[in-house]
Amino acid sequence: MFIDTHCHLSCEDYEDINQVIEDNRKNGIETIIISGCTKKSILESIDLANQYDDVFLTIGYHPSEASSITEEDLKLLEKQILESKKIVGIGEIGLDYHYGKDDSFKQKELFRRQLMIASEMHLPVVIHTRDATEDTIKILKEFPDICGDIHCFSGSIETAKIYISMGYKLGIGGVITFKNSNLFRVVEAVGISHILLETDAPYLTPEPFRGKKNSSKYIPYIAKRIADILQLSEEEVAKETIKNTKSLFDLK
Ligand code: NI
Repeated sequence: MFIDTHCHLSCEDYEDINQVIEDNRKNGIETIIISGCTKKSILESIDLANQYDDVFLTIGYHPSEASSITEEDLKLLEKQILESKKIVGIGEIGLDYHYGKDDSFKQKELFRRQLMIASEMHLPVVIHTRDATEDTIKILKEFPDICGDIHCFSGSIETAKIYISMGYKLGIGGVITFKNSNLFRVVEAVGISHILLETDAPYLTPEPFRGKKNSSKYIPYIAKRIADILQLSEEEVAKETIKNTKSLFDLK
């Protein structure tokens, strides 16, 4: 059995969500944690988590939303967290400078405001960081009481070790199966105790399905690759990553 710690589930991407959930169950995916990270997808994610026992969620405003999020939206986020029993963390939140730094001030402000909420509510965070490692680490260090998941980790071994020393786990997904990826070196260096399995579906589909739409049901392919790298059995990868996930997100 596996847990997909980070994916997106929306009618826009999947025609039949019931089928997606059924396929997960058939493929040994016991739980998925979906992420709502825009105003619209947060509402949809809350609704889905209420419908399925094996769906939990994290909510938080993605850095790409930074210019449109108001104080009122942040109040609503707090209210939504308090009202839903299925919310296990805040995210994905963070910094994304991939398309430039024009709104970096707003991004940092939104990031800090949501970290404050996580700190007050004693919730873990799911971090999105792209081309912004230095600022991400600097801001996370301002909140030493928070732990979380560096979603879709893609940095160096050195960066991985910094996050781990700060109490963070690394979300490893489909990229680990790509032939041109060096991520295996990070997995080798940090070991299974700091790794969470994720798909980031509908994006980043693992081999041998690269190019198709991703889904949580492909988690076993990611686990298989990690098992090969670390010379563990797939069962050990499943067991250890579930243990890491349950302790971070306080899942029963
Ligand atoms: Ni994502």
